[in-house]
Amino acid sequence: MKILQITSELPQLAQVGGLADMVDGLSRGLVRNGHDVACLLPAYPATLAAHGPANDDLTTRFLLDGESVTLIHKAPSPGDPVVLLAAHPLLSRVPGADGQSAGGDGVYRLGPGDDDRASAIRFALFCRIAVLIAENQCGLNWQPEIIHSHDWPTALVNALLARRQSPVARIFTIHNLGYRGLIDRPTFDQLQLSADFWQPSELEFHGQCALIKAGLIHAHQVTAVSPTYTREMATPEHGQGLDGLIRYLGDKLTGVLNGIDIDRWNPAADPHLPFDYSPTQPFGKTLCKTTLKAWLELDSPDDRPLIGFIGRLVDQKGIDLLIGAAPTLLERGCDLVVLGSGQPDYEHQLRQLAHQYAADMVVHIGFDAALAHQILAAADVLLVPSRFEPCGLVQMYAMRYGTVPVARRTGGLADSISDPADASGGQQTGFLFEGNEPGALIHAVDRALTLYHQREAWEDLRNELMTVDWSWTRPVEAYERIYRRALHQAATNGT
Ligand code: GLC
Repeated sequence: MKILQITSELPQLAQVGGLADMVDGLSRGLVRNGHDVACLLPAYPATLAAHGPANDDLTTRFLLDGESVTLIHKAPSPGDPVVLLAAHPLLSRVPGADGQSAGGDGVYRLGPGDDDRASAIRFALFCRIAVLIAENQCGLNWQPEIIHSHDWPTALVNALLARRQSPVARIFTIHNLGYRGLIDRPTFDQLQLSADFWQPSELEFHGQCALIKAGLIHAHQVTAVSPTYTREMATPEHGQGLDGLIRYLGDKLTGVLNGIDIDRWNPAADPHLPFDYSPTQPFGKTLCKTTLKAWLELDSPDDRPLIGFIGRLVDQKGIDLLIGAAPTLLERGCDLVVLGSGQPDYEHQLRQLAHQYAADMVVHIGFDAALAHQILAAADVLLVPSRFEPCGLVQMYAMRYGTVPVARRTGGLADSISDPADASGGQQTGFLFEGNEPGALIHAVDRALTLYHQREAWEDLRNELMTVDWSWTRPVEAYERIYRRALHQAATNGT
């Protein structure tokens, strides 16, 4: 199959969250299975500065509305998909430089409030470029049979291709329904869309326009990044006002749990770790813990449980639960290490806690890939108290590193972690809780600590976790089936 991934993020080139890893892992899995895959990404200013055309990169130029668009084809390494960077004066403008708020969330997202005017204009243009590529109108001499778009920034490509009765099969993936690409009428009027998109059965949404609807309505197949989140989105609690539409999608919507890159996340060969380890040679994990504790100046005895948190410090991630539970967990004799950045109020409260409990708690505000790997290796327990979590990847990384996840039973966390207290039974791979208060998190940690003190049982669990298969093999097969369904629908003109 010839597949074009249309994405706002890719690892190394432009990354805000897990979306980049998902598109990358899926694409590489598809290449491994013999498919012809390209990923189209806007050439953001920073991307262009660091990864502009190199000697062996081809470039293609074409005009859109009289303005020149340059497609930079990054020469792929073996096993990687082709990457196409779309450069255009509008795409390459720095977010926020035109007086619009750029928000605190990175290259393009403005947070769940999603008043996203400047980004919407940029991404509408990006989608129009994607349409030209899908229709082989820009001198590439390569035409995809399938286009796969991700989240609101690239949703519009589905509506545009549907209107043109394009024969290309369209797949849209929801990574997070919390970002709907909401814009007002004056902004909509700047997107050069046909005016009849402004109606409730199209993109209009309570007096505004929700760009994500273009993907939900006009893709042949829609996926979300876990089965449980797929069900949750159909409820008013998690549906972000779109639950009716989600329910209406019926069997056009499938939940597929993401995989992870098991080569990059491998404690047996991780360049960031001072010691390697594996299920059969687990001793290195203890040495990683000793090393990290020394480096962080946590000088408690090494047999004290070390609890980690890695993630964005935002409401979605349940940081208030973490902050509320921290004093009790520290008084229980745990050490705590937190890595992430996000809302200033959370950053401030965490810093204060770390100051108050300086001997037992370390907070590192920011993003540090090496430290993330080291915490995953060193910690005994990783907390993932997210209020909602479409998939979540960090719990899978944790398990691969023999670190026991304690998480809220929601979305992809519920699908990837099983707890004996869980009705579904199965092999234990972590501890789940349900409430929305710190007490629920504390109770789950207490259950984990009880097992921690039964050394042999804990070691068995830890070694077992490391052998769970989180590779992309199965998810890629699921996407191949979905692509075939979409191809059939496109061929028979079904929707
Ligand atoms: C989004 C979701 C996260 C998911 C990731 C990759 O960031 O919030 O749960 O793991 O996308 O699909």
